[in-house]
Amino acid sequence: MKKKILVTGGCGYIGSHTVVALIENNFEVLIIDDLSNSNKDVIDRIKIITGVKPKLLEVDLKDGFLCDNMFCYHKNIDAVIHFAAHKAVSESVEKPLKYYHNNLYALINTLMAMEKYNISNFIFSSSATVYGNPETLPLTEDNKTQRPFSSYGNTKKIAEEIIEDVINSNSNLSAISLRYFNPIGAHESGHIGELPNGIPNNLMPYITQTAAGVRDRLMVFGNDYPTKDGTPIRDYIHVVDLAEAHVIALKRLLNHNQETPFEIFNLGTGNGYSVLDILNTFEKIIGKKINYTITDRRLGDVPQLYADINLAKEKLGWIAKRDLENMIDSAWKWEQNIRSEQNEIMN
Ligand code: WQD
Repeated sequence: MKKKILVTGGCGYIGSHTVVALIENNFEVLIIDDLSNSNKDVIDRIKIITGVKPKLLEVDLKDGFLCDNMFCYHKNIDAVIHFAAHKAVSESVEKPLKYYHNNLYALINTLMAMEKYNISNFIFSSSATVYGNPETLPLTEDNKTQRPFSSYGNTKKIAEEIIEDVINSNSNLSAISLRYFNPIGAHESGHIGELPNGIPNNLMPYITQTAAGVRDRLMVFGNDYPTKDGTPIRDYIHVVDLAEAHVIALKRLLNHNQETPFEIFNLGTGNGYSVLDILNTFEKIIGKKINYTITDRRLGDVPQLYADINLAKEKLGWIAKRDLENMIDSAWKWEQNIRSEQNEIMN
């Protein structure tokens, strides 16, 4: 009997890649998504890759009644992987209530339904932004998390505290929180990738859309940071490496191999690249220049974030396998595919 996994936000960028990895590992997947930053055609794309079309429920998890109904109706869920959240750091600085409302209501409603219907395995999509502006690098999981600069990061920090409180209340909840650094790239098939609605907030989709002529030029948000070339440094990680880590963490939960009921792991490569590193590598790979302008800093950005990867390596036996060239190459392949698909539809 296949284990049944509920994936909230499963039509999103990281969610869809994780759904593919789950299906390829013989799990049955049920997706919940409000499609606020994703498209339902992802379900068909997942079928092209895996041969399986996962069931999609269009549910806004902020609605406690709908959320409870969904869990009540769909029995025998063995675990929940919770991606559903808004995730644009800069937007969250301008619209904190949108982020606290969406990200925390969705989490709390999901945890309440899990408690009511006796679902005890939970994987939480967290973020390196919980570390705020770190004093020491690379970042280990026990690094004191400061007050994140953005309400996005704070929703992730508060969420981890909520999960910990629930676990400490003698519930039967077991959870693993995965702190992503900067996910980029796309599935090798070119059928799924990052496709945010509207103007991209993140660096890589903005670069690929500029290269594809969808955007006029890239704005580089500040080159006066205390880094080697003045632009911020991040730990970019291939989204498929990230997806594979979720399957490993899920099996750890289902096989009761956890050492404590709540475990936290960094998911990064341990390598830091600046914005200009990414830009220069991209130009080298695609063989053409990208228009860009240096502008002011963006609210919420910190100078450097990159991971100490030893805990996930030691406890999960996981390490990122794909290098920066593969990340960028796959992102560009996806951009070209999606643009040619859209041109075919328009012609
Ligand atoms: C990266 C760098 C920008 C866009 C991300 C996700 C967040 C979370 C943490 C998972 C920064 C610069 C960007 C642009 C630019 N991930 N930049 N011009 O802010 O590190 O946050 O990782 O939970 O969800 O958003 O990523 O890609 O937005 O920015 O110069 O048009 O690129 O200043 O230094 P960030 P990002």
